Amino acid sequence: MYLTQLRLVNLRNHRRTELQLAQGVNVFVGANAQGKSTVLEAVELAATGRSPRATRETELITWGESWARVHVTSRRAERDEEVDLAFRQDASSPRGDGTWREIRVNGVPARRGELFGHLLCVAAGPADAEVSAGSPAFRRRLVDVLLAQISPAYYYTATRYARALLQRNRVLRAKAGAAADLDPWDDQVAALGAAVTLRRRDLVTRLAVAAGRIYRELSGGREELAVTYAANLSGADEAELVRTAKAAMAAQRQAERARGRTLVGPHRDEITLEVDRRLLRLYGSRGQQVAAALALRLAERELLREETGEDPVLLLDDVMMTLDERRQGQLIAFARGAQVLITVTTLAALAALPAEAAVFPVTGGTVEAQRAHLA
Ligand SMILES: Nc1ncnc2c1ncn2[C@@H]1O[C@H](COP(=O)(O)OP(=O)(O)OP(=O)(O)O)[C@@H](O)[C@H]1O
Ligand SMILES: [Mg+2]
Repeated sequence: MYLTQLRLVNLRNHRRTELQLAQGVNVFVGANAQGKSTVLEAVELAATGRSPRATRETELITWGESWARVHVTSRRAERDEEVDLAFRQDASSPRGDGTWREIRVNGVPARRGELFGHLLCVAAGPADAEVSAGSPAFRRRLVDVLLAQISPAYYYTATRYARALLQRNRVLRAKAGAAADLDPWDDQVAALGAAVTLRRRDLVTRLAVAAGRIYRELSGGREELAVTYAANLSGADEAELVRTAKAAMAAQRQAERARGRTLVGPHRDEITLEVDRRLLRLYGSRGQQVAAALALRLAERELLREETGEDPVLLLDDVMMTLDERRQGQLIAFARGAQVLITVTTLAALAALPAEAAVFPVTGGTVEAQRAHLA
């Protein structure tokens, strides 16, 4: 699939940006702080309902304005699709974060979960430093977003798990709580947690194979990347996982009451990354960390393509400038067949670019119309 048109209104420093994208490589070029990443951010927002770098949607609204809008049209299998996201500041919003939001998919009002699977995208960028070196939550999020894109139903399972967990923790913290109050939540947390564990474990096994192969190529065959799902619950199938979860909850009850938190389940799982058998998070060089995150992202793209039959859009924010000429060439070769959106501060940072690439200069929140790349 590929994006055909983007429209941003009052999104960060973009007051009104409208652009037509090329089917292959699109390069956004400009000095720092001009609004390049914001264009990619808009795409990710429309694909997943969440910005990779904003904690609240109000941060995205142009200062001094009260609302913002992102409108994306795409084409897949000769069918045009449209995703529209509008949000405004509203202190009385039931979402509790001061934003009111409206999502439409092909003109029909939709909830966040219904966004998944429409605009397929894989984003690599500065935030990936956290994937390589940050806390486990960043790696779990990568896997969760990928699973939701492959199968939107997963989004609901994961959301219900998170809610059940919140409820169970609330009961754990209640002073007068009787043991019986926990029973229904134990059942729900164990059942939903087993489903989450199983889906994640299967996916990571496949992701590991693809990422391992891509990393080997990126490192010129010199290094091995190992990706493993370190689940804190074991079990061959869902039923066994449920049994282990319930046994673990029973065994940990005292500690859980004392801490006021559920201590077992997939919310505490880790996805371990090792290069040549050493933890990347602790011992990896900067270059190794960048390459490993990139290998994971490219592996994501392969899995999405296998599962959905569609090539997702690749968003490469500041990635090119961290790669040497050989790796850049490899990345462009890997990406062949996909639509790619790249940001760079100067075209000179790009070693080689297909002659048909579209280039969009970005200045002060304004994007110039695309022009052909004449290398
Ligand atoms: N809510 C907002 N309202 C207005 N401007 C904003 C808002 N949030 C951020 N900005 C500004 O938007 C600009 C664009 O940021 P963006 O991250 O897209 O730049 P960039 O071109 O990717 O820069 P870099 O090369 O440094 O990564 C920045 O100048 C930033 O200060
Ligand atoms: Mg940027």
